Amino acid sequence: MSDIVLELKGINKVFGQGDTRVQALDNVSFSVKRGEFLLIVGSSGSGKSTLLNMIGLLDRPSSGQVMIDGKNTTKLSDSKISEFRNSKLGFIFQFSNLMADLTILENVLLPRNIQRSDQNAYREATDLLKAVGLESQMNKRANKVSGGQAQRAAIARGLVNHPTIVLADEPTGNLDSVTAETIVQLMKSMAKKLNQTFIIVTHDRLQFGEVDRVITIKDGRAFEGEDMPPKMELTV
Ligand SMILES: Nc1ncnc2c1ncn2[C@@H]1O[C@H](COP(=O)(O)OP(=O)(O)OP(=O)(O)O)[C@@H](O)[C@H]1O
Ligand SMILES: [Mg+2]
Repeated sequence: MSDIVLELKGINKVFGQGDTRVQALDNVSFSVKRGEFLLIVGSSGSGKSTLLNMIGLLDRPSSGQVMIDGKNTTKLSDSKISEFRNSKLGFIFQFSNLMADLTILENVLLPRNIQRSDQNAYREATDLLKAVGLESQMNKRANKVSGGQAQRAAIARGLVNHPTIVLADEPTGNLDSVTAETIVQLMKSMAKKLNQTFIIVTHDRLQFGEVDRVITIKDGRAFEGEDMPPKMELTV
């Protein structure tokens, strides 16, 4: 297994045309290693979510390549891309996006697409729910738990497929600061325990404390570190 789980090569993303043309990403290139806990920061409208959508294979770049686990995803058809996304990527959203009528456990099992007989998935999901502190809540319906508990469940759901990368866009954006702190600590401890790569977009850099790496996006361009650019622009 290669140590590099993600390689972005010269990513450009343009929305609209003529007067409404926006270059949301401008020649972004960087690599991410297995186990890295990486923050993406930058002001509103700088291109963070657009970048995360490229990495998450939710949208395609206008040009450039997204390599995940050594595979060039640019060449994959739409159906192959969703298959690849489901097997390689885990997602945590700002709003936990749980299915309200399913239990916490059923929600965590969803990405596994399992049948009842898949005891492995069941055991792994319950182990994850224990690890995120939801052992006593797993048979509750998702609409009956608190925001913090729902986000814990979303973390377990994001991990249940053993993804190559977990992606999160403002995962604490909807939580009070105390709950946000526990969710941050939980993601960091799961990352360590599982040697799991996390790529997290946040506007609250301080909330995360010490992390492996920070990339700053400014006007669609990526810079290493959190100092004001231009320090070290990441391009090909
Ligand atoms: N689907 C779209 N169509 C047109 N323009 C878009 C689209 N998505 C994003 N943009 C534009 O691309 C730029 C980057 O947007 P993006 O959502 O990536 O910013 P962001 O850094 O995530 O901002 P925020 O911190 O507010 O979430 C903005 O100028 C935005 O208006
Ligand atoms: Mg955004």
